[in-house]
Amino acid sequence: MKNIGILTGGGDAPGLNAVIRAFVKYGAGKKGWNIFGIEESFNGLMYPNDKEVTQLKPQDCQGLLIKGGTILGTTNRGNPFKEDEHGNSPANTLQEEFSKYNLDGLIVIGGDGTQAIGYRLMTQYSIPVIGVPKTIDNDLGATDFTFGFWSAVDVATDALDRLHTTAESHDRVMILEVMGRTAGWIALYAGVAGGADCIAIPEIPYDPEHFVQKIKRRRKFGRHFTIIIVAEGAKPKVEHDLPKHIKGAGHTLAALLEQRIEIESRVTVLGHIQRGGSPIAFDRVLATRYGVHAVELVDQDKWGHLVCLRDGKMTDVHLSEVAGDTREVDPKHELISQAKAVGIEFGDQ
Ligand code: F6P
Repeated sequence: MKNIGILTGGGDAPGLNAVIRAFVKYGAGKKGWNIFGIEESFNGLMYPNDKEVTQLKPQDCQGLLIKGGTILGTTNRGNPFKEDEHGNSPANTLQEEFSKYNLDGLIVIGGDGTQAIGYRLMTQYSIPVIGVPKTIDNDLGATDFTFGFWSAVDVATDALDRLHTTAESHDRVMILEVMGRTAGWIALYAGVAGGADCIAIPEIPYDPEHFVQKIKRRRKFGRHFTIIIVAEGAKPKVEHDLPKHIKGAGHTLAALLEQRIEIESRVTVLGHIQRGGSPIAFDRVLATRYGVHAVELVDQDKWGHLVCLRDGKMTDVHLSEVAGDTREVDPKHELISQAKAVGIEFGDQ
């Protein structure tokens, strides 16, 4: 008989509940383990007076496959290693609570920050962990895809489809800003899927003049509207002197274009709509596979590993290899050259 804790950390992503469901159905339902849901990331063990730890049974997972968010709650704040004014570290309380529930280990579902905390808890506090990679940004190097990414791409693609019809009706330049502070995966994939004319990502600093030329070329062909997708971390190559009130990648790009060409532009910041709602089929399947593989790792006592997808197969990698292994878009990525082949402008040539 095993006692396992499960938690979700960092920003939410569609598919978190699907991982929990798969882990509980297999772990509790088939293996007969006691599985405990820890509220709000590690906080459930750090602050036992405020947060809860609840046993999860297969019947608690009914309807969870399609449900967005996380039933356990999450946070992208809170550092178990930060000492308070009395020199106490919440990680000590976490360790005490871990022992109180007689846990064998924790399933940590989260992005790079959450996995780094998990790994430190294992190495410094002897708390066994198994990681499951999550983030809509898809910027974890260890896995082909994090779950949540394709759902976010789908939302952004749908937004581009909608912007197309209104852009065309008004002859406007429509700019869609999507998430991705350091990695432009959502902008790249949604840009290709949604037929964007221009894509701006953090990995390729852009020259607005190239986008202006693209707009002009389109006009020559009688296309008086242009669709641009921009990741929130995208930046121009050169310093600019825009007024301070212009903030955000989308509005910055719009202002830089308006300085150079007469256009009517509108900016849509998609924001957290990309993280909310039901996971699409791909993410439901991936999340289920991750949850099942996490059970298998527990069964094999393979603590300290991160579940991952490589070349379409479930596998795992040691957490020590994951720390700091973020994956940005390589400007030489084949999808970039394919996108350029169909005329998409990235602002670099
Ligand atoms: O890490 C995922 C992410 O969606 C980023 O792309 C984005 O910048 C960030 O989370 C926003 O998170 P929040 O607003 O929840 O702090």
